[in-house]
Amino acid sequence: MAAQINPSILSADFARLADEAEAVAGADWLHVDVMDNHFVPNLTLGLPVVESLARATDTPLDCHLMIDAPDRWAPQYVEAGAGSVTFHVEAAAAPVRLAREIRAKGARASMALKPATPIEPYEDLLPELDMLLIMTVEPGFGGQAFLDIMLPKIRRTRELIRKHGLELWLQVDGGVSASTIERCADAGADVFVAGSAVYGASDPAEAVRALRTQAEA
Ligand code: DX5
Ligand code: ZN
Repeated sequence: MAAQINPSILSADFARLADEAEAVAGADWLHVDVMDNHFVPNLTLGLPVVESLARATDTPLDCHLMIDAPDRWAPQYVEAGAGSVTFHVEAAAAPVRLAREIRAKGARASMALKPATPIEPYEDLLPELDMLLIMTVEPGFGGQAFLDIMLPKIRRTRELIRKHGLELWLQVDGGVSASTIERCADAGADVFVAGSAVYGASDPAEAVRALRTQAEA
C-alpha cells in the first residue's frame, strides 16, 4: 500500500478548523485527537466538533480516542461521521466486541497501543482490526520527541501482520517528522500521523507531499 499521511489537527488552529482541513486537502485522512483529561492529562474536543468537521471537509476523519470508556463512546464517533475510529486497548473493556461494533456501523476499526503496551498479547485480535496504531510518544500532547525504542515493536507487528496474511494498516503517531519518518517506514509502518511537522511548516500541503515522498523512498 502507498504511504498515507494523516495530519493531526491537534497542531492546527482550533478556531479555524475548516480552513486548516482545507490547507491539507491532499492528505489521505485528517487525524482528530480526542482527549478526555482522564485517559490522558489533556482535554481537546468531542462529538459536536467531529460532527461539524465531518460536514466541513471531504477528507475522511481518522478519530484517535484517548479517552476512558471507549466501549461507550467509540460507536458514537462513527455516527458523528468518522471514517476510522481508534480506541486504546488499555481503556477498552471488550476490544473485540468494540471493534466489531465499529465495523458494523460502517467505519474502519482501529486499536492503539501506548508505548509500554506490548503487541504480543493481542496477536489473535488482529483479524478484527482494519488498523493498528503504535504510539511513538506517550499520548497526550503534540510536539514530543519520537521514541526510537518503539521501532522494534513496529517491526514485530509488521511481521505478525505478514504471518497472518492480513491487510491491516500499521499507523505510527507521535514525533513523526522529516527526520524520523524513514525509520518508521523502514520498520514497516504505512500510515503516518504528523501534527507539528505539518501544521508547524510554512506550507502544510507541501509538508504532506514531502513526508509522503520520504515515506515511499
Ligand atoms: C499525541 C497525539 C498525536 C499528536 C502528534 O498524543 O495522539 O496525534 O497530535 O503530534 P506530533 O506529530 O507533533 O508529535
Ligand atoms: Zn493521535
